[in-house]
Amino acid sequence: MAADIAGWSSSGGSLESRFFVDTGIWRDAPLLKGQTSFSPLPDVRNILVTGGEGFIASWLVRHLVLTYPSTYNIISFDKLDYCSSLNNARMLEGRPNFKFFHGDLLKSGDVLRCLRTYEIDTVFHLAAQSHVDLSFGNSYSFTSNNVVGTHVLLESVIAVKTIKRFYHISTDEVYGEVETDAADLTEHSVLSPTNPYAASKAAAEMFVTAYVNSFRLPAVIIRLNNVYGPHQFPEKIIPKFINLLQRKKPLYIHGSGHNTRRFLYAGDAADAFDTILHRGEIGRTYNVDSRDEISNLDLAAKLLSTFGVSDTTSSIQHTKDRPFNDKRYAVDGSKLRQLGWQPHVSFEEGLASTVEWYGKFSGWWGEIDSILSPFPEVVKKEGAGGGVDGEEGEGRASGSGREGTGTIMQAGVGAEANNGTKKANGVNGASKKRKADAMEDDG
Ligand SMILES: NC(=O)c1ccc[n+]([C@@H]2O[C@H](COP(=O)([O-])OP(=O)(O)OC[C@H]3O[C@@H](n4cnc5c(N)ncnc54)[C@H](O)[C@@H]3O)[C@@H](O)[C@H]2O)c1
Repeated sequence: MAADIAGWSSSGGSLESRFFVDTGIWRDAPLLKGQTSFSPLPDVRNILVTGGEGFIASWLVRHLVLTYPSTYNIISFDKLDYCSSLNNARMLEGRPNFKFFHGDLLKSGDVLRCLRTYEIDTVFHLAAQSHVDLSFGNSYSFTSNNVVGTHVLLESVIAVKTIKRFYHISTDEVYGEVETDAADLTEHSVLSPTNPYAASKAAAEMFVTAYVNSFRLPAVIIRLNNVYGPHQFPEKIIPKFINLLQRKKPLYIHGSGHNTRRFLYAGDAADAFDTILHRGEIGRTYNVDSRDEISNLDLAAKLLSTFGVSDTTSSIQHTKDRPFNDKRYAVDGSKLRQLGWQPHVSFEEGLASTVEWYGKFSGWWGEIDSILSPFPEVVKKEGAGGGVDGEEGEGRASGSGREGTGTIMQAGVGAEANNGTKKANGVNGASKKRKADAMEDDG
């Protein structure tokens, strides 16, 4: 069914039908995007956004399609993993400057076909396995999609020779945790990941840097704080808490809950990408920072209060902690702020509109009760996705039409990630500065 929806194109890979069952829920949804707008660039015409049906990339896709309707064509490339939804861009269907391409980064044939068919000149690479909790139990899938997937994309980009700008989206997690009171980390700080997700993202960055050096890839690396807002699959803390509260269930907190995170509204993230595209410099790395830092416990209390729950003691349940749970992340985004970017949406405002959105669109991903457990349980199919031994497993790029992850997430109230991992010293303090990032030329 995927292949011939007006305005949508498919590589012909097999589909889980749920993605193409259109319940029409998106028709009543607001068309959410960022707020920035710039004079279009003369050398940018056809923009590929990988992971375009996922959370953050769909904000970028909507933003670019709606803000630059007559100048930029946007192609959303996505394999439609469990966390994605075609609803995230269905409202763009019929717009002449939008296309969806159903493809997998692990299949070089898909990637090359897409790059050539749409004569792509600019790439925003966001596709990834993004859930830290899952990475403790299913790390090979993170290496496959995030590292090998990036590698395939880079090889393909070099092969087609038409790419003038390559924006690689990374995360504050590549720096590892930052001690309380330590200075915010700059783009030159040491990369010191502490979990398999963060390691895969750091490794992907190394590939990008290598291609900059070896092949003069015109690249920019962008590292963001935690992003939240409407359209986020409810496996991540804010939408998960909201969905639990909607179901009158307790909020599960890993460990003490004193770990803090800085949260950036998704519309502000779209603005950051837009700003870097139009004002940023090729060859640079940019942190995208938020100043809204909050502990998991305080976040739970805030949301409980929003939902009018006064009994906070019985409404919060502490579970055992992640094998390693970074205390906090803290990046310095002044380089991007010097380009004129600043967040437009306060945490209070963003949280309120996020709660409202999930109240109206709880059926966005269909049935999601099973993912509202403290830790997701990962079930690996023998010889498929994530297995290193299986012949049909991920990890090899090919155009042969082999299928996606083969990984299933199940209800896992009792299921917990391996807790036997020893704590590593991953603290990234202010004093721990090292040689400049190879991407950087500004010392
Ligand atoms: N969510 C955050 O707070 C956050 C913060 C900083 C950086 N990031 C980064 O931003 C990017 C997007 O994150 P998100 O939270 O929106 O993720 P998400 O999980 O919502 O979406 C990821 C998308 O990538 C697609 N995808 C995964 N593997 C693919 C493959 N092999 N081929 C094609 N498509 C594939 C999935 O189908 C999905 O639509 C990721 O690179 C992530 O590391 C996220």
